[in-house]
Formats: sequence, C-alpha cells, structure tokens
Amino acid sequence: MQVTPADIDAISGLIIDLCGIYLDESKGYLVDCRLGSIAEKHGCKSFEELARKVRTSGSFALRTEVIDAITTNETLFFRDNSPFEAFAYKALPETMDAKAGSPFANRLRIWSAASSTGQEAVSIGISILEHLPDSHRFDVQIVGTDISERAVERASRGWFAEHEIQRGLSPQIIAKYFRPDNGGWRVIDEVRSLLKFQHMNLLEPFNHLGRFDIVFCRNVAIYFTPETRARLFQRISEVMTEPGYLFVGSSESLSDLGPRFMPHLHCKSVYYRPNLPQGVRV
Ligand SMILES: C[S@@+](CC[C@H](N)C(=O)[O-])C[C@H]1O[C@@H](n2cnc3c(N)ncnc32)[C@H](O)[C@@H]1O
Repeated sequence: MQVTPADIDAISGLIIDLCGIYLDESKGYLVDCRLGSIAEKHGCKSFEELARKVRTSGSFALRTEVIDAITTNETLFFRDNSPFEAFAYKALPETMDAKAGSPFANRLRIWSAASSTGQEAVSIGISILEHLPDSHRFDVQIVGTDISERAVERASRGWFAEHEIQRGLSPQIIAKYFRPDNGGWRVIDEVRSLLKFQHMNLLEPFNHLGRFDIVFCRNVAIYFTPETRARLFQRISEVMTEPGYLFVGSSESLSDLGPRFMPHLHCKSVYYRPNLPQGVRV
C-alpha cells in the first residue's frame, strides 16, 4: 500500500496518542511494513482510514494489534551488562543497607518499566539470587510492565526460544536458572516467583503500582517526544523510595532534566538517584 504524507500525519498522530512513540516523516517504510497487513485485514484502503478506524471504532482488539505491531520489542538478557554490575554491586547492597532497621528492612521492590518479553526482569531476578545472600529471607518483587499485550503474555510464560537464551547468558547461568522445555527453555520457579508482569501504558498514571526502590526504564523513552520523556522520568521519580536507583539505556542520558538527574558512576555504568536527600552526593 502506498504511504502518503497524509497517511504519515494520521498514523503518527495516532501512535503519539496511543503510546507516546514519535514517528517522523522518514518512517513511511515502518508504517507500511508493520501496519500494511493490519490495514488490509480490516478493509482499510489507506493508512489514514486505518488511523480513523482505530480512533472511532472503539475496538480494543484493533488498538492492541496496532500497538503490538508498532512497538519495537528488541531486548536481551543482561543488555549492555554494566548496568547489571552496578545493580548487583552498588544499588542492591546499598539499598538493603539503607533499609536496615526500617519497618520495610526485608522488602525490595524493583520495576522493569517497558519489560518487553521479560529478559530484563529475569536478568534482575538472576542477579538477586546470585548476589543477595539468603535472598529467600527477603520479600522481593520485580514488576515488569509493558504496553504490548503480546510482549507481556510472552514474558509471563517465562519461556524463551534457543536463539533468545543464547543472547546474554553464559552456559553456567543457563544450566543454573533454566530448564529445557518444549524445544526452548523455561526459567526456574525460584526466579519466576520473584516476577510479576502486567500490561501498562507509561503515558497513563502508575501510582497504583506502589513505590519502588530501584527502577529500570531502558530503551523506551528514546522513542518519545522530549516533553513526554521529561514528564515520564519526573513521574517515575515520584514513585521511587529515597534515595532510589534509576537505570536508563546505554545511549540515554538524563542530565538535561536538571540537577535531580545528575549522573552517578559505578565502574563503567551510569545510574541516577533522583530522590537523594538535598546536599548528599556520593
Ligand atoms: C526496545 S524495548 C526495551 C526492552 C528492555 N527495557 C530493554 O532495554 O531491553 C521497548 C519496549 O517499550 C515498550 N513501550 C513502548 N511504548 C510504551 C509505553 N507507552 N508504555 C509502556 N511500554 C512501552 C515496547 O512495547 C517495548 O517492549
């Protein structure tokens, strides 16, 4: 199907409203290859017509189809590696030390915002079992959320294909935390019991998720407009405990968002502590 400037306008307006993702004029090919079959299936003669149908039909299924098609779910285990080092050797022990003696000393809540098919959340779970001594004594909850229903459904299964398991995991970690299952690999229950996945749009309120000690919000805000991105990280900081550790993607930086988002370094990894008490610098 041919993609006209009017189609791009209609689809990019729709996608910004649905999930905050910004598509510029150069994304005609993306519209065509990801939404072409959906437009045909729903009898739309143009992408403009598809955008109108999504907005006016009230069909949740059609909206879901479009969101699943337009979102980029690329992910892998221990992506970029160094954030997981900073998590294991800095954020995790310091968070547990800071909580010692408090009424919530044994509770640890971590959010994988934009968890895609679950590899990030599973990597966090494995890190906890590897690095938190006697982790069974703690009440650990890793919440993974994503706007893509398909990705959340896959993450909840805890099952990964051979080519996925080969991205980011050593043979030792595979042997310890995964079991062969149905031609692929299933993550063991000890890890799965720490994880909970749910559908959620980051543009919508998320206070109902509760507060988090550590947040991973990686490789999603890069697709948003600058205003949506700035507002998102501000809202994330509001659901984080003090001081809180925030990890973003390796190509992302939050320094333009003001002094609360000054970067901190651990070895080669950058993280943020948006709720560090005033005047404290570490
Ligand atoms: C490239 S993946 C990143 C996955 C993982 N965080 C990582 O770094 O490997 C981006 C994810 O963001 C999700 N996403 C995009 N817009 C979103 C929104 N408005 N709310 C929640 N998730 C969104 C997509 O569905 C996709 O799974």
